[in-house]
Amino acid sequence: MTKKSFFTRRLILLFGFGGFAHIVVLIMRRIFIQIENRQLWAKYQTQTFPVQGNSTLRQRAANKGLIYGVAVRKSALSADTHLEEIVTRECGIIVPEWELKWNFLRPTPNTFDFSQADWLANFAGQHQMLFRGHTLVWHEKAALPQWFETTVNHENARQILITHIETVVSHYAGKIHSWDVVNEAIEVADGREDGLRNTPWLEFLGTDYIDIAFRTAAAADPKALLVYNDYGLDYDTDKDRDKRTAVLNLLKRLHSQGTPIHALGIQAHLSGSEPRFNPEKLREFCHQVANLGLKILITEMDVDDQDLPLDISTRDHIIASVYQNYLSVALEEKAVVGILNWGISDKYTWLSASKPRYDHFPVRTLPMDVDMNPKLAWNALAYTFDHASKR
Ligand code: G3I
Repeated sequence: MTKKSFFTRRLILLFGFGGFAHIVVLIMRRIFIQIENRQLWAKYQTQTFPVQGNSTLRQRAANKGLIYGVAVRKSALSADTHLEEIVTRECGIIVPEWELKWNFLRPTPNTFDFSQADWLANFAGQHQMLFRGHTLVWHEKAALPQWFETTVNHENARQILITHIETVVSHYAGKIHSWDVVNEAIEVADGREDGLRNTPWLEFLGTDYIDIAFRTAAAADPKALLVYNDYGLDYDTDKDRDKRTAVLNLLKRLHSQGTPIHALGIQAHLSGSEPRFNPEKLREFCHQVANLGLKILITEMDVDDQDLPLDISTRDHIIASVYQNYLSVALEEKAVVGILNWGISDKYTWLSASKPRYDHFPVRTLPMDVDMNPKLAWNALAYTFDHASKR
């Protein structure tokens, strides 16, 4: 045997063993999580959500000085009378899921199309609901017009951003409760010390783009609550812990330089199979945000049921428990002033496409089912609002 083939065989063996060990570790980890989940899910089956009276979520929240609402799509709300019925019954606030994003508002670099968002703003006004805006600055390609990538550059980025915010915020000035001014600007995995995500805005304008956005929005509508909105802040994992730290650092920096920011939006896209929810960590985080003088909104709440048991009663119990356990802790903090679900009915949820169940059965993530009937998740919200302290 030549020396070369001896080394090749040793390398193959080594890599083979390494790969095998890695797979074993992954399988063991998966089994461990499954065991933890099963114990947790069994515990959730004993959790109860007794609700009295016929009050809506809107009324129950309002009784405690809270605002409750959901994200809606104009295409669904204008075509589905059952959806219209439950939204107008249950909600004190709505937020467009799509229509205030750049891809809807900016057909070309020099034109604005407010028709769809205006329809929703008028709908809110006609039904005595508040209206909130999402979002003025977001890097996500799926929410940007096609011209963005080929048009925006170092030379024109500042002016394009300012024009966008001035035009859109002035259009709704006096009619809007709050704006998600900057969305999802933190991504620790991008490796920067300040935790900022590498986006076109950061590349073209540097770290100041966040301050510019808030100042421009405040000048265009001095009355709107201006929000920084982000996800991945919920669990007791290294990833979420690092993100909480980076978001807090960002908020402290903005606060110390006098940026007109008024609130943190915690998206709260929760998971039915994430065993590492630690009430203490969420409590501490909300408290730290409140200590900066900021309000908190829970902006996009839902619970993914991707690998939960198929049985509907078991699954609904788990989802309701996740809602209640999270929200009851968040609402201990008086700075939390509003709660929104990212949709109201399982008929219209981004999770059907983005996180479908592995067995392909329909997801059951929101307070109402596909026929607009309340599920146990609705009871969990109602129960939690009823037991929240008044603010
Ligand atoms: O453009 C087509 C439209 O013409 C068509 O009517 C529609 C029919 O399905 O599809 C449209 O594209 C969709 C687009 O939203 C609308 O702009 C995409 O398929 C869809 O993937 C896209 O996803 C949305 C995403 O934001 C990007 O805007 C989700 O529905 C929406 O739930 C999601 O919302 C985000 C928040 O803004 C920020 N936080 C996370 C949250 C979930 O990802």
